[in-house]
Amino acid sequence: MVSVAIDGPAGAGKSSLSRKAAEILGFIYVDTGALYRAVGLKFLRLGYDTRLECSVDKILSDTEVDIRFVSGEQRVFLDGEDVTDEIRTPEASMMASAVSAVPLVREYLLDMQRKLAKENNVLMDGRDIGTVVLPDATVKIYLTASAQVRAERRYKELCGKGIQTTFEEVLRDIEKRDYNDMHRKTAPLRKADDAVIADTTDCNIEQSLELILRIIRDGIGIENNVS
Ligand code: DC
Repeated sequence: MVSVAIDGPAGAGKSSLSRKAAEILGFIYVDTGALYRAVGLKFLRLGYDTRLECSVDKILSDTEVDIRFVSGEQRVFLDGEDVTDEIRTPEASMMASAVSAVPLVREYLLDMQRKLAKENNVLMDGRDIGTVVLPDATVKIYLTASAQVRAERRYKELCGKGIQTTFEEVLRDIEKRDYNDMHRKTAPLRKADDAVIADTTDCNIEQSLELILRIIRDGIGIENNVS
């Protein structure tokens, strides 16, 4: 099986680029952030605090997170319920960030991620795929762009959705998340030693897609046609 690991900071365009690249290559796209979001949603619903390690253990033993692919699209299930849309709320995002720093939660989700890569050709994105989840991935990419450009993209996206915010606020949020992701104790975000850096600061979406497809195709040794 072929596995492509794509890690990088928030707002680098990992999910949209990974989804498109996986579709072109005929691979399964696994958005691992969605798994952390589903666990976060469980804690949110129960009103539990992740700082209490004992309650984390108890809750996880009574939690079932599952992903299924419907027409090639990943759907996330929490205890049998499709929560694909609900995990995108700001509250669920915040809780996902909190639970992702808990070692027990990372351990809980590890096998599922590895099993998916064992059974399918996958393109998996996250923060620790190349470093922890799939250290032997066929191709590893560290997708990044300057904080300024990532904030500009995110700001445009939020404005397009009619969400009231300022550029300064979005930039602050991006820089804060970078810091949190890179400085947590367990599985912090960092470039794997053997990952190829894809810096999309000066690229539009098409150029970014071409760049990562080129890296992947070079890595797995197949013809380099984009479509
Ligand atoms: O990629 P995302 O924003 O949907 O991820 C949600 C949260 O999960 C985010 O705070 C980072 C965390 N995460 C992680 O720690 N490890 C991963 N492999 C994927 C996501």
